[in-house]
Formats: sequence, structure tokens, C-alpha cells
Amino acid sequence: MSRVVIPSLVAFGLLLPGYASAAECNASATPARQKAAIHTLMSRMTLAEKLGQLNQIGRQAVATGAAGTQGQSGDDVIAAGGVGSFLGVRGVAETRHLQEIAVTRSRLKIPLLFADDVIHGYRTTFPVPLAEAGSFDPEMAERSARIAAVEATASGIHWTYAPMVDIARDPRWGRVVEGSGEDPYLGSLMAAARVRGFQGRDLTAHDSLLATAKHFVAYGAAEGGRDYNIASMSPQTLHDVYLPPFKAAVDAGAGSIMASFNELDGTPMHANGALINGLLRKQWRWNGLVVSDYTGVMELMHHGIADNRADAGERALRAGVDVDMVSEIYAKDLPQRVSSGHLPLAVVDASVERVLATKCRLGLFDDPYHGADVARERASILTAEHRRAARDAAGRSIVLLKNTQEALPLRKDIGKVAVIGPLADEPWAMLGNWPGDGKPEDAVTPLAALKKSLGERRVAYARGTGLLGDDRSGFDAAVAEAKSSDVVLLFVGEGPEMSAEAASRSSLDLPGNQQALADALAATGKPVIAILLNGRPLSVGKLADASSALVEAWFPGIEGGNAIGDVLFGDVNPAARLAITFPRNVGQVPIYYAHKNTGRPPNAGEKYTSKYIDVPWTPLYPFGFGLSYTTFRYDGLKIASPRIAANGRQKVSVAVTNTGKRAGDEVVQLYLRDEVASVTRPLRQLRGFRRIHLDAGESRVVEFELGREDYAFHDAAMHKVVEPGRFDVFIGGSSEATLSGSFEVTAGR
Ligand code: BGC
Repeated sequence: MSRVVIPSLVAFGLLLPGYASAAECNASATPARQKAAIHTLMSRMTLAEKLGQLNQIGRQAVATGAAGTQGQSGDDVIAAGGVGSFLGVRGVAETRHLQEIAVTRSRLKIPLLFADDVIHGYRTTFPVPLAEAGSFDPEMAERSARIAAVEATASGIHWTYAPMVDIARDPRWGRVVEGSGEDPYLGSLMAAARVRGFQGRDLTAHDSLLATAKHFVAYGAAEGGRDYNIASMSPQTLHDVYLPPFKAAVDAGAGSIMASFNELDGTPMHANGALINGLLRKQWRWNGLVVSDYTGVMELMHHGIADNRADAGERALRAGVDVDMVSEIYAKDLPQRVSSGHLPLAVVDASVERVLATKCRLGLFDDPYHGADVARERASILTAEHRRAARDAAGRSIVLLKNTQEALPLRKDIGKVAVIGPLADEPWAMLGNWPGDGKPEDAVTPLAALKKSLGERRVAYARGTGLLGDDRSGFDAAVAEAKSSDVVLLFVGEGPEMSAEAASRSSLDLPGNQQALADALAATGKPVIAILLNGRPLSVGKLADASSALVEAWFPGIEGGNAIGDVLFGDVNPAARLAITFPRNVGQVPIYYAHKNTGRPPNAGEKYTSKYIDVPWTPLYPFGFGLSYTTFRYDGLKIASPRIAANGRQKVSVAVTNTGKRAGDEVVQLYLRDEVASVTRPLRQLRGFRRIHLDAGESRVVEFELGREDYAFHDAAMHKVVEPGRFDVFIGGSSEATLSGSFEVTAGR
């Protein structure tokens, strides 16, 4: 039963000037006082008000009033305390308007939370997360998340649904673009960096944005790469591969986690109490807020584990999903369950307490507007400094995949360039998917950038073809422009709508007849520089064959055109690497560097080994791979101790020399292999990297430290162990690094 509202306390609330809730929970109070304040507040809440706190609705619901009971407008729902947070409401004017209703017209004046998908920038769109991961520069990812937070909070947003930390090893799955790729180590560092960037040092600061690690968990393991599909995996894989980025986000202080749409081994994640209440809350002692994914609570019915809405709501809430994103099941269907005694009020209370604690941590009881006003919004968004950071981030995220005979960089005094392709002048392809509040009119396309830097007369343009379909009517014009130019810059790939959510593909080839266009241009004999704009690994072997140089620019953000120009003309020496393996064809998927050896490791000379008869087993481009305009030499690998205890710190160092003629960055990578263990271990695992800058001819010793966490894994009994034995170290510029040594770990657990 819900608690009885004590009229005198309500009256007390109404008597306070401004927002009565200011007295309820002060962000600077001690945790004990905050808890007491929240309990006092909860003692005044009706069941409907409590469930209202767990109810998140979208902007649409407000506009139509659909969130309310019959005849109620969205404003009325807020005034009645029927909503705790909003999804996708942006801008100071609108957020302030809604907040004002909450803190002046609702009975308890509890402030609202405004949540949004601020994924890779807000108005200043940065490169998509998969691209930024390839920078191997967590500090840069932290900076861009910081800027996103500065802008989004100025626009009235408190809570972002990022970072997406799903490990993704199947590029058919469109959502690979949203995360940090295939590797748990890189993914963990990026997850932590982004959480720090969004949240800043102190959540009460006006420019701090509550981060959400999503989607919990194993969403990236969707069977067949088909979005929302089921995931099945061993507990070892779950704990050693898919969970570490969530742990890293939690350790970095992430205030929230989103449940994922998928089921895992038969249990939909929105009902997975063992992993949400059990692992996250009990084992990891994390006390943040769990939000459902969009209609995820309702979908428990489609999964076939709930008979009706109330069932679905009860299962999700009992599992520990605090906030119901837009299903409106908690608010509408759970009151009955509680009043009938089916669902203990304590279960509701636990979630309400977490919602209120989150609002308190953000300081919303002190300032429900979180410092957002029109002047700040105007001053903070799309500043010149933010644009510079976006250009820098894009330059640091572009990967050079092929460069024969130093086709790149181009000479600045080059005569004429032919800019060709469906993505050469497509602003949306700069922004990519989940662009936040990014606007195409703010985006600099490659064509615009090149016209500006080279002058209109030196740039010829032909679209050549569309992204899809087989229309060749533009080929002739494109070929003619190519013939009259010194070089062809060909911009091909995918449209932004072809990746991210609900955008799985069954082919990884270049869509439409873009390859045919590339072949027609190559036939002119002019050097073709192909620049890819896309959100997933593509099987672009043929494109590479048709090109002198191949550049992976991903969806590079609003400054993408300028950044691509920087790379093409050598103002930026590319250094980013692939955060995800590129297969030769879709049939190789899933393909990732940290695979197991099998009992019959592939061997070209022996039939009965683990390989294909129609394609090599190796990838087109491996994880960690990327070229530079200079070259690097690795030597002098030193392993400090030949034998080390599991708890000891091992030091490994290597000398890296820039052997070329230009300054450049190198991503020095360290991989480890546990040679013999009680369960099978990956052939190599990334356990350290450093992006360093070296002038031409410069040499530097790079040192890594290894410890227990680098040797540990889950054994058959699911104990996290370190087993004694030999470990191999590989150091170099990609996951295929060959410089190696080994040492022994001497003690167990
Ligand atoms: C996506 C989430 C996103 C949410 C809110 C869902 O469809 O899976 O990643 O945060 O929508 O927009």
C-alpha cells in the first residue's frame, strides 16, 4: 500500500518560497543527510507520485498529451507528478518551461530530469564513436565528451544515453558505429574516458552531464548481426569480453546504465535480475540508476516472458530496471499490482530512491534548471574552439589503409583535382547517425573544404552515382572530370542511415554501383584516392585494388571536410588505427584478432585445418592497423623480469624510431598471450597502448607496466584467476605485431 500523505508536510512544502523541493536534498550535504532527506520526501509521496518518478516519456507524448490519462495534457501530467524524466526534449526554452511546471505546479515540486542521446557531440558533432576509438587517444575522446556536455547542459539536458560500450565483433550489426569496436581493453579505456568527459569532476557543476553506459549487456553479440536479436555466450566470454567496459564505466563513476533490448541465454536483459541487481548492484556495489531502453519494458511481452503489461512491468522492476522509458507501464499498470499486494512497495521504493538520489547528485533540488539559460545556451554552443576540437578529433580519427608509391599526401601545388562520388558533398555524411543537435548546415563537406583551400578553379566535381541502385548516367561526366584532372578524390561509402540502430546489413560490400564507378575511374589511368565515409567495416578489397590510396574517414563530424583535407594534403599525418577488424567478405564474420587457436589452427598447406576453401582466413585489414606518411621501427624489446609473481608488476619496454622524413604519431601496441591455461585463451590480447609523437629521426623508449589484471581470466568454475605459466608479449604498430618476448608468471590466484 502506498504511504498516506501527511497534509501538514504538504502544506509545509507549499509554504516554502521558490521550489519547496530545495529543502529536500542538498547536493553538498553528506550522503547520510541526502539519504535521510530522500526518505523524508518519499514518506510524503503517494504511490502514483512514486511511479511517476519512474516514468519517462518522450517529447511526442507531451505534445499530444498522450502521456496523461484521458483528456490530460502533457503539462497536466507533469503537474500531477506523473512523470519523472523526459526523453529528447531539447533547448533551454522548452526544458525550462516543463521544469517550471514541475517545480511550481506539482504537489511535491520534484524536479524533472531531461535525458537525450548526446552520443558524439551535441551541436558540434564529433566523429562517430567507432572512429574516435580508432584514435587510440582516450584523452581526446574525453575532451570531445566534455565539449558535448558543455553544449548539451547549456541546452537544458541533464542526462545522456552515452557512452555506448558494447563490444562489437560483427559488422553486419549496424550499431558497431556507436561503440569502441571489438576489443575490451580499448573499449574499457574509451568507456572510462567518455564517462569522465561527460560527467566532469563534479556532477553538480552546471556543465556536467550524467553518463549512461549502454546497452547492458551483450547487445553487440546479436545473432546473425541482426539488430535486437538474441545473444548466447559462455559466462567466460561474458565476463572477460563483454562486461569489462561496463565495469570500467562504473569505476569511472557512471551514474546510470541502460538495459539492452536483447535476451542473453534465454533471459531478456530487462528482466535479468541476476545481472542487474545481482552483478551490478550487489557484486560491483554500484548504486546508480538503471534505465530501460525504448519500450524495453513492454517488449518483455514480445520476448514471451510476460503475459501482459503489468507482468512485464513487475518483472522489469523486480530485476532492477528503475526507469521505464516510454512504455508507461510502471505508471499505468503497476499501481494495481502494488495495491493488490502482488508487488511489494519496497521494490518500487528502491527504484524511486535511486531516481531521487540521482536528481540530488545532479543538484537539481538546489537548482532545477542546472544553470541553463538563454545567454549560456547562446554562448556555449558551436564555438570556434569547439569547432577546432572537432577538426582535431576528426584528423586524429582518420585511418590510412593503403598508400602506394606515396600517392598521399598530395602536393599543395597540384593542378586540378576531380572530386567525385555520392558522399563528396553530403553534409549528413559528415554528421553520421545520432548527430545530437548537429545540423547539416554547420557541416563542412569535402567538396566545400577543397574548394575553399584550393580555389574553385582547381576543383572539378561530379557526383557520378548515387549510394544505392545501379544508375550509371553520371559515370561519363565523372570519367570526363577525372581525365581532365591530375588526381581523383573519390568519396564513397554508406549513408548515415545505413548504420546504427535497426540498420543491419547482410552484405559488407560497397552499396549500389559505387565499386563500378571506382573501376571506371581507375580505368582512366589517373591516380584514384578513395575516401570512405561509413559506419562499419566494409569488405573493400576491390576498392583498394582500384585505388592508389585508401582512406577510412568514417563519419567524421561537422569539421570532417576540413579534416579530410588536412590529411590529404599532409597538414595532418594520419595515425589512427582500426578499432575493429575489416573482413575480406561477409562470410568471414565474426572475425576479430583476439580469437582462439582451435585444435587445428589454420595452415594453408593442410586441408584439415580451420580455414575456408574460398577465401583466406586472414582479415582484409586487422585490428590496430593503420598507416602513416612516415615509417616506424621497433627494436630493443626489454622485459624486466623473466619471472614474476601474479601480484608483481612487470615492466616491458621497447624503442620506437621514426625512420621516415616526416613527423608523425605512432600507436605503440602491446599484446599478451597466455600460452597454456586451464581454459582456452585468445591468441593475443591488447593490454597496453600509447599514442606517441615522434619527429623525423626521433627515437623514444616506451614503457608498459603489466600486472595481475593483465594475466587474469575466468576459469571453468568462473573464478577470476591468474594461472602460473608462460606469457608471450608482442609489441608493434598493429595486432599483427611480430616483435616478441616472453616471461613466466609464477604464482596462482
Ligand atoms: C536505443 C538507445 C537510445 C534510446 C533513446 C533506443 O532505441 O536503443 O540506444 O538511447 O533509443 O533514444
